[in-house]
Amino acid sequence: MTRALTVLGIETSCDETAAAVVRLLPGGTVEILSETVHTQLEEHAPYLGVVPEIAARAHAELADETVRAAMVASGVTYTDLDAVAATSGPGLIGGVLVGMMTGKAIAQAAGKPFLAVNHLEGHALSPRLTHDCPFPYLLLLVSGGHCQFLEVRGLGDYRRLGSTIDDAAGEAFDKTAKLLGLGFPGGPAVERLAAAGDAKAIDFPRPLLNRPGLDMSFAGLKTAVARAAGAEPLTETRMANICASFQAAITDVLAEKTRRALDGFEPGEGQTKRLVVAGGVAANRSIREALDSVAASAGSVLLAPPMRHCTDNAAMIALAGAERLAAGLEDEAGDLGAGARPRWPLDETAAKLDPAYVTGRRGAKA
Ligand code: KG4
Ligand code: ZN
Repeated sequence: MTRALTVLGIETSCDETAAAVVRLLPGGTVEILSETVHTQLEEHAPYLGVVPEIAARAHAELADETVRAAMVASGVTYTDLDAVAATSGPGLIGGVLVGMMTGKAIAQAAGKPFLAVNHLEGHALSPRLTHDCPFPYLLLLVSGGHCQFLEVRGLGDYRRLGSTIDDAAGEAFDKTAKLLGLGFPGGPAVERLAAAGDAKAIDFPRPLLNRPGLDMSFAGLKTAVARAAGAEPLTETRMANICASFQAAITDVLAEKTRRALDGFEPGEGQTKRLVVAGGVAANRSIREALDSVAASAGSVLLAPPMRHCTDNAAMIALAGAERLAAGLEDEAGDLGAGARPRWPLDETAAKLDPAYVTGRRGAKA
């Protein structure tokens, strides 16, 4: 790659309508020229979760303005772009379609290539937006939609080491909050109450902790929380104890699985063992501290991208597009004929070997 590549990225796979313009310089330095995000939290809050139909409509209403704002803020014109990239899956199909149609229309009108980007690849590459983070590294992706360990070996070269077999960790936080009447999104509310509670008050299960491997399961925890919530009157203290004990259970599982993942991760002679954590759950202080200490004990370095890049964003999609363009992978990534994919595992080989990951409600996002 001998010249800078400027890419417009569009993200619409869940409840954020986002656009960003990113420039990848020769040598790998990244300049984020602009980032615009419209969150739909208010639209979904009354339903205590993301409603796909409401999300799709909101994306359709917000996409044009979001892209326009990102382009204006970036100071570049459509002619200056080298490509347009949009999330093409996995995610809520209505939103993905809106983002792809917007991206394809702009690409066609401006005469630029269109890149269909895997949302998970965006997350996998997100630390490279702001940090010097050479391949390979270990990624723990923990959000409301994803919970998996990935070995990021290179662009387009990902190995899934383990994943939740049911709910994502963020989903467990959201369900716990819902059970306790704490609103949506649940993570921050549960964390706030947990600070006043006793983490040892209730002995919640640590699912799959006593089994080898890196798979996780959080659906059973929800049942345990429901049982605890129904067992005694829900006083402030009781609620705080449930939150603290629940958070401790999730923290223990994530910390122990991360310890195992780091143990088996060999970055190569003389290379730093880098651990990256991304996803909304990475905002949780107790989880972050536990991962920090696990990383330190393993002689590893924990790298957490800034929160705006941990959660869904368009800069990571633009970067994935730019890196693909730089590597000459644009045909493989897709073109104007690419379709939206509700499920799109990053590690196709692992998904084929274990189809449990590509069926069910969460499928490839989990
Ligand atoms: O990455 P994200 O914004 O969206 C996707 O799910 O893709 O993650 C949102 C998730 C929600 O489930 C939310 O409850 C959780 O991240 N979350 C937290 C915290 N802040 C957000 N979970 C635990 N503790 C937090 N402080
Ligand atoms: Zn995501």
